[in-house]
Amino acid sequence: MIGAPMETKGLNANRGSKPNRSRKEIIEKKKAMDALLKAASAEKDHLSAFPAFRRYQTNGLSAFLESGRGDKLASSVKHYIQNLLKANMEGLYGSEWPVEERVKCREMVAPEARYIFVCEASNASASEMSTMSEQESTSASCVEKRGPMVGFVHFRFVIEEELPVLYVYELQLEPRVQGKGLGKFLMPLIELIARKNQMGAVVLTVHKSNSVAMNFYLSKMRYIISTISPSRVDPLIWIEKSYEILCKAFSDEAKAILEEPLEEVHLV
Ligand SMILES: CC(C)(COP(=O)(O)OP(=O)(O)OC[C@H]1O[C@@H](n2cnc3c(N)ncnc32)[C@H](O)[C@@H]1OP(=O)(O)O)[C@@H](O)C(=O)NCCC(=O)NCCS
Repeated sequence: MIGAPMETKGLNANRGSKPNRSRKEIIEKKKAMDALLKAASAEKDHLSAFPAFRRYQTNGLSAFLESGRGDKLASSVKHYIQNLLKANMEGLYGSEWPVEERVKCREMVAPEARYIFVCEASNASASEMSTMSEQESTSASCVEKRGPMVGFVHFRFVIEEELPVLYVYELQLEPRVQGKGLGKFLMPLIELIARKNQMGAVVLTVHKSNSVAMNFYLSKMRYIISTISPSRVDPLIWIEKSYEILCKAFSDEAKAILEEPLEEVHLV
């Protein structure tokens, strides 16, 4: 995953802007979007609305999910994230990795960064969990009281193309838990969080050479290559860029801006 929302802005700066809108309408819309982002970002635990997603028990894997935020990460968690990013992504980025790693380190601790952590239930904690009350089991610290962390999702609520969207910056699972259905479990949760917070879409970037992730999002999770992705904006830009922007839009406005072919967008 490439945390590239800033970089994408220049590709398509006028997409979605409606020439006939008055200044007042534009200001009102911006205010409404800012209010949505503020409310979404103020939520302390995005899992609280979806308790069924706190636990994952399939394919021989037992895990717990926890919420977090970038400016509250323990240093052990920061190291964990950095190591997992390196293990999963260094090979894909090749010589670009040192620069990308620095960018990702900065993004990791941003106040806007929101996390879902996945922690394996060790045998001991699994039995402890069965005797815990629901409140205890949901408030226990992932790192201290449960088994080891095995992956995470880093997401943010941002404005993209004048739309409030949930941008997935990272979805990273340790190799030993990949292919056990966790990705297919986490992405619908992310989509529910987006919809609950009135985001128009889930947006993410994938490195062009990450064929497993491309297949996962496009074939399995039904994401599409967005109209704001370099390959759809201009093939010449695409050659220079190493990523695609994928999306799943929920609102009609977001579908028109992020999913429709270019020509149709301008007719809206
Ligand atoms: C990409 C990733 C998030 C997918 O999550 P996952 O839990 O491994 O995937 P799931 O087990 O939910 O599998 C979902 C589907 O993806 C496909 N898939 C997953 N891993 C695959 C692999 N290693 N090879 C081929 N197909 C794979 C499978 O077809 C599977 O579909 P099926 O269950 O119908 O057979 C995870 O593998 C990962 O963290 N990879 C490394 C980091 C990364 O590339 N992140 C995405 C950055 S954009």
